[in-house]
Amino acid sequence: MVTGSFVICICGKGGVGKTTVTALITKALVEENKKIRLLVIDADPVSGAASALGIKDPRSVGEVREEIISGVGSGRGKEIKDNLDYILLSTLIERDDFNFLAMGMTETLGCFCPVNTILKRAITSLSSSFDVVLIDAEAGIEQLHRKVIGGVDLLLIVTDPSQRGFATAGIIKKITEQHPQLRPKKMGLIINRYRDGLDNLKAHAYNENLDVWGIIPEDEAISNLDLRGSPIYGISKNAQSYESVKNILVQVLKREVI
Ligand SMILES: Nc1ncnc2c1ncn2[C@@H]1O[C@H](COP(=O)(O)OP(=O)(O)OP(=O)(O)O)[C@@H](O)[C@H]1O
Ligand SMILES: [Mg+2]
Repeated sequence: MVTGSFVICICGKGGVGKTTVTALITKALVEENKKIRLLVIDADPVSGAASALGIKDPRSVGEVREEIISGVGSGRGKEIKDNLDYILLSTLIERDDFNFLAMGMTETLGCFCPVNTILKRAITSLSSSFDVVLIDAEAGIEQLHRKVIGGVDLLLIVTDPSQRGFATAGIIKKITEQHPQLRPKKMGLIINRYRDGLDNLKAHAYNENLDVWGIIPEDEAISNLDLRGSPIYGISKNAQSYESVKNILVQVLKREVI
């Protein structure tokens, strides 16, 4: 699907920590390589990736799409496609450390060129300008079913220590295996909010036929930031969760990404 950059997609059941992991990976990529050209895409309309990254009220692709639709009347599908560059230019947030794009709400007005279609096109058209594109995907399997998130270089499936988290991870794996166009080049499981019972958790992963690529502990540093409404991106570099994510990147990604 994409040339020119390494595309990482974070997916998993709702509430397992996808956005938190996205913010921690963003920080680790930036800290480990200040020169990296990184684009973070918030592909979940209710995700909160912007606030996790310390970005205030970004304009989303969905909002600009609706503005265009309200203004153009008929022939909307064509107009949206013609305006893709405008949409991306007016929504892309450029910072020194990374760039950010919020997809926003999907399909509220009209059914032409829905946000998910724009997302697909955005990844293709923007990716050559970046070394890494990191996508915080919508919870569950909808975007996979719609073939929005397909053929990425690395699919990181996040679960918490719950039966349903592992089951959803297993379903995600099966879906990507059933559809060749969805198949990522690599795929691994991250167990988030780990407290204890590692053997049991590894057995769950084994049952779902998933390789465990990393374990992130339950971390007070995250809960404290969350309670204060502070961005996870600002987490201390000494925090256990940050250390774990850095190790995951070093082991799994570094040779390919950095
Ligand atoms: N390792 C952790 N330690 C402590 N708290 C955590 C950890 N990971 C996530 N959390 C907390 O769990 C909650 C859910 O996390 P998050 O929003 O990242 O999940 P999500 O998978 O993105 O959810 P959604 O599906 O709603 O987008 C948040 O309150 C977050 O602070
Ligand atoms: Mg989220």
